[in-house]
Amino acid sequence: MAESEKPHISSGLEGVYITESSICKVAGQQGRLYYRGYPIGALSKNSNFEEVTYLLLLGRLPTSAELAGFKSQLADARDLPKGVVDIIKEMSGKSHPMDILRTATSSLSAYDPEVADPSPEANLRKSIRIISKMSSIVATIGRINSGGSYVTPDKSMSHEENFLYMLNAKKPDKRQVDIMRDMFIIHAEHSSNASTFGTMVAGSTLADIYSAITAGISVLKGPLHGGADEAALKMMKAIGNPDNTESYIESALAGKQKIMGFGHRVYKAYDPRAKIIKEYLVSLQPDSSEEVKNYTAIALRAEKMMLDKLSTSHGIWPNVDFFAGPVYVAAGIAPELFTPIFAASRSSGWCAHMIEYWQNNKLFRPLEAYTGKLDLEYVPIDKRQ
Ligand code: COA
Repeated sequence: MAESEKPHISSGLEGVYITESSICKVAGQQGRLYYRGYPIGALSKNSNFEEVTYLLLLGRLPTSAELAGFKSQLADARDLPKGVVDIIKEMSGKSHPMDILRTATSSLSAYDPEVADPSPEANLRKSIRIISKMSSIVATIGRINSGGSYVTPDKSMSHEENFLYMLNAKKPDKRQVDIMRDMFIIHAEHSSNASTFGTMVAGSTLADIYSAITAGISVLKGPLHGGADEAALKMMKAIGNPDNTESYIESALAGKQKIMGFGHRVYKAYDPRAKIIKEYLVSLQPDSSEEVKNYTAIALRAEKMMLDKLSTSHGIWPNVDFFAGPVYVAAGIAPELFTPIFAASRSSGWCAHMIEYWQNNKLFRPLEAYTGKLDLEYVPIDKRQ
């Protein structure tokens, strides 16, 4: 294209394909999601986080022996170096858990002897360590924030069971474990969303995988992306009484505010993850606390109103973040840990994308259409007006 021609700008890279990938398919118009070809519903019903991580990283479901070996590799990597726990202690109470997670994950590179080895084998081993330790970091942030001290991981437990054990210093009950298993699977991957793209941009410079994952955490933090789960629960808390739901949403929309947990760049149908989480939330009701029941009532009324007003007319549907908050509350998770848990789960997808992209790496370097002046005369500082 000649320099003088006006380039086409796809704002926010909307509709732009950046690479080929066999990891994840988001069928936005149909509201379907597949990891390596498997529908998310089948995985959330039948699988577990370790198996899903194997699938994402290695491209196929494992045999029993392979899964057992992979589970023990993940479990062996759970313990955190003292220096990382010290960073968490130092930042606790001063920074949001996402900021602590970002710094603590970055610091893990200091303890990894393979940090500078770019071979695919080393990147797979590093991925396993990162995925395992990010959950330990999030659990430790929660533990230290609530006044406790570091809990040594238990290798005999599953990934999500150990997460809850490190968070609460006690063996979790089955209901909590089931909730976390579902949430870890549902959040594990979602193609080239903003944080995965951020991860890939950092990795495409051939920076190491710790740098890439740290970039992913930074991108996930914002309320337009992963931070929407905490923001949606904050809104439900502000609504307070279910009877206030409609007037709250009405005035937020009239004030041109976005309702967190709704809308998506790719889904123009009901997000299948939101459907699963909603069904799960409703199934929890009979045994839920009054707090969870109240949040659920608000969430269902807000959903109905948003569907009536904006779904078919504007393509704005509930997304993964809307019903997540009340489900986490049912598992006893504090709101400030929602997005860090999302990050710990998504580390599987981030690592899978990095490993795949590095097989045929190309530096990301887009263009911008310059709108400023050219060839201005440099005026010495004492002559400027
Ligand atoms: N509530 C109300 N209106 C919304 C909305 C929401 N959650 N999401 C989008 N819209 C409206 C916008 O205000 C805009 O309206 P306009 O054309 O009149 O200005 C229109 O829909 C397009 O939104 P835009 O933000 O430009 O589209 P996008 O593709 O960039 O948006 C999101 C995708 C996710 C950033 C957006 O839907 C959003 O901010 N949602 C809330 C945050 C959230 O839940 N994020 C998690 C995503 S998994």
